[in-house]
Parts: sequence; C-alpha cells; structure tokens
Amino acid sequence: MRTRFVRRSVSKFMPGETIEDAIAAARELGAVSLGTILTRLGENITAIDEADEVAAHYRHVLDLIRQSGLNAHISIKPTQLGFDQDPEVCYRHCRELLQRTDETGSFFWLDMESTPYVDGTIALFRRLREHAPNVGIAIQAYLYRSAKDVEGLVPLGSAIRLVKGAYLEPASLAYPKKADVDENFYRLATRLLEDDNTRPGALLHIGTHDVPLQARLLEVIRQRRVSPGRYEVAMLFGIQPARQKELAAAGVRTRCLISYGEYWFPWYMRRLAERPANIGFVIRNIFRS
Ligand code: FDA
Repeated sequence: MRTRFVRRSVSKFMPGETIEDAIAAARELGAVSLGTILTRLGENITAIDEADEVAAHYRHVLDLIRQSGLNAHISIKPTQLGFDQDPEVCYRHCRELLQRTDETGSFFWLDMESTPYVDGTIALFRRLREHAPNVGIAIQAYLYRSAKDVEGLVPLGSAIRLVKGAYLEPASLAYPKKADVDENFYRLATRLLEDDNTRPGALLHIGTHDVPLQARLLEVIRQRRVSPGRYEVAMLFGIQPARQKELAAAGVRTRCLISYGEYWFPWYMRRLAERPANIGFVIRNIFRS
C-alpha cells in the first residue's frame, strides 16, 4: 500500500483502509439514495484472540452507523471471527454482534467463503436466525448444492444474498462454465421471488454486476408484481458505479458493499481474477507512476 501504483489500483475498489474512509464513502452514496454494506477485509485469522479485536471493531462500526444515521449493514466472514479455531467462539461473537445490530436497526450478513465452509456457515446462520430476522447469508450460484440449500432456507424466512461465487472450486462441486452459473443464478433468484417466500425475514439480495441478468430479474419482478420490500440489488464499491446510481434513481432499492481495511490482498486478487481487464488497469497504473 506504500507504493503509489498499488494504492491507485486498489483504491478503484475500496475507498481507503479505515472505517472512517468507508463511512465517508457511505455518506456520499447515501446522498444519491444508495444503501451500503460495510465489511472489514480479513479472513482466516491465525489465533482465536484476534477474533476479539475483530468483534470489537464491528461493535464500533455499529456505533458509527447509529451515530451517523446511515442506511448501512455490516457483513462478516466467519473465519474472521474464529470459525477455524473454535466455531463456538465464532457463534458467540456473531450472536452478540447480531443483538447489537438489532438494537442499531441495522442488518448482519454472513459472507460465504470457499466450499469447506459452506455447511458450517449455513449451520451458523440457522442458529442466529432463531434469535432475530435481521441476519442474512450469501449463497453462491456456482455450487451445484445451492438449489438444495435454498430450499432448506426458505421455510425459515431467510435473507439470502445471491452471488455467483468468487473462489476457485473444482468441477465436481461447481459449474465450470460461466453460462451455467448465470443460468443457475437466474433459476435460484426466480425461485426466491416465488409467492411462498414471503415469511417474515425473507429478503433477496441480487448480488451481481451482470446487467443483462439484473434486467431479466427486474422484468420477472415487474411481471409478478413482487413488492419492493422483498428484494434489493447489491453491488461492490467501484464496480459499475453509474449502474448503481441509475438503479437507485429508478427507485430500485440498491446497496453498495464497501470493503476497507489493511488485509486486502486475497480479496483484491479475487477482484482481479473476475475480470482480466483489471490487470491492464494495474499495469497502466505502474506506468503512470
Ligand atoms: P460477472 O463476473 O459475470 O460480471 C458481470 C460484469 O460485471 C462484467 O462483465 C464486468 O462488466 C463487471 N464486473 C464483474 N466483476 C468485476 C470486477 N472485479 N471488476 C470490474 N468489473 C467487474 N462471492 C462469494 O463467494 N462470497 C460472498 O459472500 C460474496 N459477497 C458478495 C457481495 C456482493 C454485494 C457482490 C456484488 C458480490 C459478492 N461476491 C461474493 C462476489 C461474487 O461471487 C462474484 O465473484 C462477483 O460479483 C463477480 O461476479 P458478477 O456477478 O458481477 O458477474
């Protein structure tokens, strides 16, 4: 981060390393009717004590959300809160943060990590959902198992952030072809927009920058007259910002996930891998420096 070209390249996708940078960006987005989700980068902590610091940080974030009056959610990765070392400690941190989130009037999301964590993250979500409705979970459309997972979550009244999936998974577990992932996203999203998915707590986050896919789903929503409270579009900071504003201006509830923090390397590599053109952007910044 000390190198100018790195700073310039990474800042396309994150407003800065501190929560203050993220809150300032959230304010700007709020001014154009975009909601936000705040997440501090970091995953797979190496010692359980580090989870205490992460939980304390998110308590502080919730205080800032309350003070600022921002329409902002928080999102965590279970491995940031000690899932690898002790799933029970991770659960206790999440439970406490969920309670705080509830008091703040905010929302608590669980990111989905690579396949070894899917069962554990779903089990964690189920336990948390027993206590409050304002908790959600990311589900990855590239996994064959996701259709079954979604069916299991619908009866609970679940907030689901549907995403394509960001990790390198084997063909035995995930669709290797992009066209199949896109179609499965459409299938899962339309499933979640059916009339039986209206229990309290049910919410669909359409978590993609794929504009044709968004448009197809918004057409389904229009035809089925799905009420606006049942879904939101969610996109990442710095990716298609004009589209984010366009959706918000058109009255579609749209939320921008803002990542911040020092541990951006693995996350940034996933953003580069998603779009080879981003590598060109990094190289251009090397020469501009
Ligand atoms: P796709 O990759 O098909 O891209 C569609 C278009 O979007 C591209 O043609 C390009 O124009 C643009 N685009 C996409 N990625 C870009 C990039 N990096 N840079 C520039 N342009 C880009 N994953 C996961 O495994 N677990 C999780 O918890 C989450 N959480 C999450 C939350 C939210 C709100 C979003 C939007 C995404 C996630 N993801 C995620 C990441 C997700 O799985 C996926 O990797 C990315 O969203 C990229 O896929 P798209 O759906 O955008 O489609």
